[in-house]
Amino acid sequence: MENKRKIVLTGDRPTGRLHLGHFVGSIENRLKLQDEADKAFYMVADIQALTDNAENPEKVRENVLEVALDNLACGINPKKTTMFIQSEVPEIAELTVLFLNLVTLARLKRNPTVKSEMKDKGYEENVPVGFLTYPISQAADILFCKSNLIPVGEDQLPVIEQANEIVDDFNRIYGQTFDRIKHLVGNTPRLVGIDGNSKMSKSLGNGIYLSDSYEIISKKVMNMYTDPKHIHVQDPGKVEGNVVFTYLDIFDNKKEEVSLLKKQYEKGGLGDVVIKKRLIEVLEKVIAPIREKRAELAKNPKAVMRILEKGTKEARKEAKKTMQEVKKAIKIDYF
Ligand code: TRP
Repeated sequence: MENKRKIVLTGDRPTGRLHLGHFVGSIENRLKLQDEADKAFYMVADIQALTDNAENPEKVRENVLEVALDNLACGINPKKTTMFIQSEVPEIAELTVLFLNLVTLARLKRNPTVKSEMKDKGYEENVPVGFLTYPISQAADILFCKSNLIPVGEDQLPVIEQANEIVDDFNRIYGQTFDRIKHLVGNTPRLVGIDGNSKMSKSLGNGIYLSDSYEIISKKVMNMYTDPKHIHVQDPGKVEGNVVFTYLDIFDNKKEEVSLLKKQYEKGGLGDVVIKKRLIEVLEKVIAPIREKRAELAKNPKAVMRILEKGTKEARKEAKKTMQEVKKAIKIDYF
């Protein structure tokens, strides 16, 4: 059973630019996997973005280019990764409709990711059906090209779990068709926001973006949550829950120096400004090359759209193959 082809797929909702949370949660793995996989796909999930942005089509449209630029700037290579737009592969919608029959309303409402997103958005019973069912459509995103390895942030794990239930039910009812799906979560599955909130997120406005300028990075770091009780330089400070140290642990390669700074901070005598200045330089080193490459690519948006167009054609070929097999399995292959 094992030793199958490794088919990787991942995607982003085009609702805003990508931040450091995306980078450590998923993008680093995308880069690694595009070299290791037999095939790799990257999807701009515009249909999924519309599930909670039905009234903001301009926002979704504008951000298609932005998320593609972010990924290309990080090093996603269109020669290795097939980059495409979800809505341009209608077979995904077709597969979604067939999967809808395999999932109950109760199961959808139990999905912890959907539950917490619904709470954040204040939906309750007035949730758009498209939003409630997005895990089903995400299963179709993954399975239309038979992918079986998904680099994602930790928050997406319940969605993958639900997709695997669809795989199991489909195979049981219609015969073996899909592989079970594995996930790969980054070294930092969930990055805290600059405000100390447990998750960096677009909607919480607590992110550092891969396209932020040096000035913006500096401003955000200077406002970062540290230890509210560490008022005077000589006061002993807390390291746990201190976002500056959390980020230094993740992004600063000089681990011994960081560990000395921590000791000094805990003892007292180390000011927030010193560690913040260090973090600004550390983050600038990560972001500067991405920002510069992004600016270069952004000069030619048509070239980016051509990459997506070419990738979409390739993705559709896979989709057609899978749909033939699926229709045959369900006995709706008439002519
Ligand atoms: N739900 C993902 C997010 O919000 C985006 C996404 C859509 C995705 N389809 C996917 C991720 C398929 C992995 C695989 O970030």
